[in-house]
Amino acid sequence: MSDRGLALAREKMQAEGVAPAAIETFTRFYHLLSSGETGLVRESDVEPLVDLPRHADLDVSDADAQAALARTAIIKLNGGLGTSMGMDRAKSLLTVRDDAPDDEGGSLTFLDVIVRQVRAARDATGARLPLVLMNSFRTRDDTLAALAPYDDLAVDGLPVDFLQNREPKLLADTLEPVEWPADPSLEWCPPGHGDLYPALHASGVVRALLDAGFRYASVSNSDNLGAAPDGAIAAWFAASGAPYAAEMCRKSPADVKGGQLVVRRSDGRIVQRETAQTHPDDVDVSLDPAVHPYFHTNNLWFDLEALAAELDRTGGVLELPLIRNEKTVDPTDASSPAVVQIESAMGAAVAVFEGATAIEVGRERFLPVKTTGDLLLMRSDVYELTGDYRLVAQAEAPLVRLSKTYKTIARFDERFAAGAPSLRSASSLNVEGDWTFGAGVRAEGEAALPDVGEPATVPDGATVTADGVDG
Ligand code: UTP
Repeated sequence: MSDRGLALAREKMQAEGVAPAAIETFTRFYHLLSSGETGLVRESDVEPLVDLPRHADLDVSDADAQAALARTAIIKLNGGLGTSMGMDRAKSLLTVRDDAPDDEGGSLTFLDVIVRQVRAARDATGARLPLVLMNSFRTRDDTLAALAPYDDLAVDGLPVDFLQNREPKLLADTLEPVEWPADPSLEWCPPGHGDLYPALHASGVVRALLDAGFRYASVSNSDNLGAAPDGAIAAWFAASGAPYAAEMCRKSPADVKGGQLVVRRSDGRIVQRETAQTHPDDVDVSLDPAVHPYFHTNNLWFDLEALAAELDRTGGVLELPLIRNEKTVDPTDASSPAVVQIESAMGAAVAVFEGATAIEVGRERFLPVKTTGDLLLMRSDVYELTGDYRLVAQAEAPLVRLSKTYKTIARFDERFAAGAPSLRSASSLNVEGDWTFGAGVRAEGEAALPDVGEPATVPDGATVTADGVDG
């Protein structure tokens, strides 16, 4: 089955004019996929990554921070489609706050916050700080339209974005390209953020940044507003001389995050181990914070010269591990056919860079939005937006769990049309069933709403406690 599937997929990519390097990358992954390759990283073959330098302990002068930021570019990954939230466009176009700290207008998308963080850092430090987005075929048009009002964004003729590749989604049972005449664009997907490397290579962006005098790149997800430009980390990275650095967070007891970095015994290199690459016998130890104290934020730093050398050497085809991502062809319709998307992770490239390093950062640099529950938290009063557009926690973030009723952004928005409840006094919010929230609702303590078997309403001004709606 697989030979036919691969031949069809390659034909489809060629017909669509996909770049040869992207077709070769896809082909390598396809072979791994059809041979059942898992890329397991066994605990016995690695050492934990421990005792990292801490961002909070860095002693960096303003002059050093400014000098490093002056040579830094900000790259944001914006090609994902937010399918986990039932979206098929960029998550960064969602509204995240309605409390803009200046007169420019109330409601702000992730993209607005990102742009304004960059602008604020430019104003504060005098750095040119180009912002370059990696878009996919589905995110580019909307994103560029949303950026149009920011006419001060582009720096020295550098592009504000570059386009990642596209590849066919494969039917889960035959691994042949799926056909979906109702919307043929859904037959395609972006190949995960590991596509950063072939996409950077094909677009020439790294070379353009080097030619314009930049030396470092700070790369992060556009759904993580914690990853604002940071002069202290830039200065630490510049002084380290490392080709690559990862920002890591210390695990709390509530973190059962899989993605982590470990040190390979055979050659001392840092490698990434995803949940899917963890042997079942190693899962417990891999999650144990006493053994593996950090998780990976997907905030990365690159020395652009080292990156350019690696991309030139490999033609952009880095040998990253395969991620088999199972979805439905129409991400907004769970009953549409099951497909496999061949993906890879940007952070897996750590193994490629000899001398790669890592730094411990605080939670304030890791505010990912993967679910509608995460979005509710970001919209709530747990965070305040500062004058420089950073989101600063005003209380410990509660655990927010919303029932599957709220899984897609459309259903979520309908039920929170009156705004996010106050979550500052809550240690958790657990919503079962289907509740529509009124205005000015407060959650307190271990707030919980039960499934009452039918749609229900939390009235305006009510308080939600461990006993449900109160008042
Ligand atoms: P996620 O892994 O959260 O993926 O991406 P996603 O696509 O946004 O969400 P799901 O899995 O479809 O629900 C982390 C970051 O990487 C970017 C996303 O835009 C996000 O900022 N990304 C992901 C890309 O730029 N390209 C990709 O192909 C995948």
